[in-house]
Amino acid sequence: MTRFPLPLVGDGMLVPCIDGHERPYVALDTAASSGVLELVLRRVEEFLPSYSGVHRGSGYKSQLSTDAYESAREAALSFAGREGSDDIAIICRNTTEAINHLAYRLRLRPDDVVVTSVVEHHSNLLPWSRVAKRRYVECRSDGTFAAGDVAAELDRLPKPRLLTITGASNVTGWLPPIEEIIDASHRRGVPVAVDCAQLAPHRPLPPRADFVAWSGHKMYAPFGAGVLIGPREAFADGDPFLAGGGSVNLVELDDVTWTDPPDREEAGSPNVVGAVALHAAIDGLAEMGWPAIIAHDRHIGHLLRDGLAAIPGVHVLGPDLRTDTLPVVAFTVEGLSHGLVAARLSAEDGIGVRHGCFCAHPYMMRLLGLTDDEVFDFRHEVRQGDRTRMPGAVRASAGINTTEADVSRLIVAVARIAGGEPAPVAYVQDPRTGDFTPDRDFAPSYAGARLPGSSCSPV
Ligand code: ALA
Repeated sequence: MTRFPLPLVGDGMLVPCIDGHERPYVALDTAASSGVLELVLRRVEEFLPSYSGVHRGSGYKSQLSTDAYESAREAALSFAGREGSDDIAIICRNTTEAINHLAYRLRLRPDDVVVTSVVEHHSNLLPWSRVAKRRYVECRSDGTFAAGDVAAELDRLPKPRLLTITGASNVTGWLPPIEEIIDASHRRGVPVAVDCAQLAPHRPLPPRADFVAWSGHKMYAPFGAGVLIGPREAFADGDPFLAGGGSVNLVELDDVTWTDPPDREEAGSPNVVGAVALHAAIDGLAEMGWPAIIAHDRHIGHLLRDGLAAIPGVHVLGPDLRTDTLPVVAFTVEGLSHGLVAARLSAEDGIGVRHGCFCAHPYMMRLLGLTDDEVFDFRHEVRQGDRTRMPGAVRASAGINTTEADVSRLIVAVARIAGGEPAPVAYVQDPRTGDFTPDRDFAPSYAGARLPGSSCSPV
């Protein structure tokens, strides 16, 4: 039986802090990218001596690699609850690529309508804006909506071609009532795509969703593989998202005969190492078992949420504290910029969080209660290259490796900062990114490099 918390590769690494001491790193940015499971690293190392081209070579190593790749595909189908179905798993880079892939492959007409929600992160908004009209399910001020709100949007005319919705918010950790939503959509004859980027490492994927997409890098397998799953017939006709080697049966200079899905959808040399890593992560999660993972998540999630909410001046965004959410908590600190809080947590305490709008701008604007005029002003400033006043929050997100001690270190540090303890050094804000850095060099390993931070696009 797995004991939680389960350490990941690199846990306990000492990082330099501004007071000249090194502290064990506290990894609380799991919602962006998780650490690596030991099992994933081991399987990748075991596999690498057999590494060769997939689907292309006749040599023994090619056969081993092809076998490893195809068994990862089977594992992905089973992880998504698709055993015995005619669904296919397309191995791609990540959720963003998977949703772009789907948006392209559904061959929507410009007047077709896709229903989605304002809770989505950009990867489940932007791909649809290029191919169809969108209608949005609004959220309440606590960042949630009910299945009935989705049904009401589905009932409006014209009838949507697709409902695409997140399985869990990357900002508040909120879990929409996804089974009820899928039922409501299917009753209306509308297929459902679920963005499972956040859900995948924390909860079983919805087996009745028509399409699901998720990423390895958020589920302890950061080797560049993600998955799109859907019915075979959705990919049976038409040209693929990417054209190239491996997707064809015959190429003439002016003609092409595509091969069958899923190969048709995977042009170029497949990422077999990523697939092996993903397969190992799937096996790892299966070994731990959902009940144990969920119990750990709930325990850590409550400690995080309750601990942060109890700090004077700290405001936790999202639903009521008793709501069952993922261990993902976004918060603001009265009178302090989110960027400064995040910079101080890192420089003074060795704690890694994310700050900003978490690639979910429309949702954050609502959670922060910004008016249209305020958004207009911020947009103007951002377009001028000035992110100094960009609104946002700080986000702490946990995983299977998060300990009670990690949470305590965060709570103590946030309480100190929110309580007005002066910073030991001045912090300087870069207007191009909105990020703060201590005005003293203390970490030679990243001095001079662009710091990670709030922006959803590199400058
Ligand atoms: N969705 C990723 C995050 O929340 C990018 O950080």
